Amino acid sequence: MSVIALLGAQWGDEGKGHIADKLAAEAAIVARYNGGDNAGHTITIGDTFVRTHLVPAGAFHPKATCALGAGMVINLRSLAREVDELNRHGANLTPDRLKIDVAAHLLLPGHVALDGVSESRRGTGAIGTTRRGIGPAYTDKAARTGLRAGSIANPDAFAEMVWAHVERANVGLRELFEPELEADALSSEYAALAKRFAPHLADVTALVHAALERGETVLAEGAQGALLDLDHGTYPFVTSSSTIAGGVLTGLGVGPKHVARVIGVAKSFCSRVGAGPFPTELREAMGDRLRGTGSNPWDEFGSTTGRPRRTGWLDLVALRHAARIDGLTELVLTKLDVMTGIEPLRVCRAYSYHDQSTADFPRDAAVLGECTPVYAELPGWTEDIGSARCLDDLPRTARAYIEQVESFTSVPVSHVSVGPDRSQIFPATGN
Ligand code: GDP
Ligand code: IMO
Ligand code: MG
Repeated sequence: MSVIALLGAQWGDEGKGHIADKLAAEAAIVARYNGGDNAGHTITIGDTFVRTHLVPAGAFHPKATCALGAGMVINLRSLAREVDELNRHGANLTPDRLKIDVAAHLLLPGHVALDGVSESRRGTGAIGTTRRGIGPAYTDKAARTGLRAGSIANPDAFAEMVWAHVERANVGLRELFEPELEADALSSEYAALAKRFAPHLADVTALVHAALERGETVLAEGAQGALLDLDHGTYPFVTSSSTIAGGVLTGLGVGPKHVARVIGVAKSFCSRVGAGPFPTELREAMGDRLRGTGSNPWDEFGSTTGRPRRTGWLDLVALRHAARIDGLTELVLTKLDVMTGIEPLRVCRAYSYHDQSTADFPRDAAVLGECTPVYAELPGWTEDIGSARCLDDLPRTARAYIEQVESFTSVPVSHVSVGPDRSQIFPATGN
């Protein structure tokens, strides 16, 4: 069979975890291929909302192997906490079920410290990172000074590498007059973490190819979203990894011929955490309305940092850019229920830049920052759609909203989600 790529099509937090949890039921392997614990993917188990950060959201399907691919940067401290937490919820992440690719990179305490310091020093130019050390970890990888996960298999050599990492990080911290890391304490902590996770090491790429040869499905669960991609997002207000479909190939070690479906997950509106241009952002009451007050677990507050997310109307220009750079074969539209009761609805179909209209997504974040959205208005609906289970259950105006997304992006909407429960995702056939 083949790889199904499941990708965020906006600025992250589109509901990837929710959809991955549903699709994982048919996958032999669910693998993350990029990023680290900057991600926060929510799945709903009964009444409980569980968040994954490094472990793919397939964790709760006992038949699926959960894999952390080569393109990731893995903080073993966070992983230990997360595995304990998920196991408390019944995930049973034994070494047989959770595999760490030997070629994935380790995100270490020096990376976290340097991320925090550089963010603070950027002042008003801060990116608004999650301060999880993502940028510095990928910097080390590209500079070829990083530590790969496979190194934890050899305790003595690993101890020396951790020591060298701490020394290197401390040189940087000292220069910035920041507190240094404690080498002794970290050495013993990381020796214990290495011992714990060494049995999880695997050649994930080989596992993926073996599954494909057996005719099984591999679900590649993206983190972040297309507009946070290091190359094609709103640089420099992006993350440091390849979030798009291309990242699946390099992050797992599979060729394009294996990828049968490229599914983009898009929210029915837009959100963004952290800094950077966001043309359709709503700073007034409608923004608050879309965000929610935090009284619902699905309200727009960061799954990783708890920060209130910036919110705005659905940006079709940006979504079409995502569809192009990802080569999306289908879209899943989430949180349609949140649009209930808004009249009229607005979607951005073009930008105005210095009085010129464009329907192309600018490649320069500064230009994007000066774009103002050109909206089309659509009629809303007032019916509660949370119990809809097929397109015909939706009001005509909700179906028209979905059709608007399809016709502008030229990508079919294959599924719609009208609530956080697994049962609230249904196929949008007939469009
Ligand atoms: P991810 O990072 O893309 O996995 O998304 P997050 O988990 O960070 O944020 C999405 C939030 O929306 C979570 O709280 C989900 O439970 C919730 N969610 C997903 N789909 C729907 C939906 O269709 N309706 C509602 N109300 N909530 C949803
Ligand atoms: P999921 O997988 C939303 C954002 C940060 C910041 C920028 C860079 O849950 O969709 P980083 O810590 O990666 O260096 O921060 O990227 N960001 C996310 N925003 N969802 C995420 O993940 C994100 N991961 C990073 O807020 O703007
Ligand atoms: Mg998230």
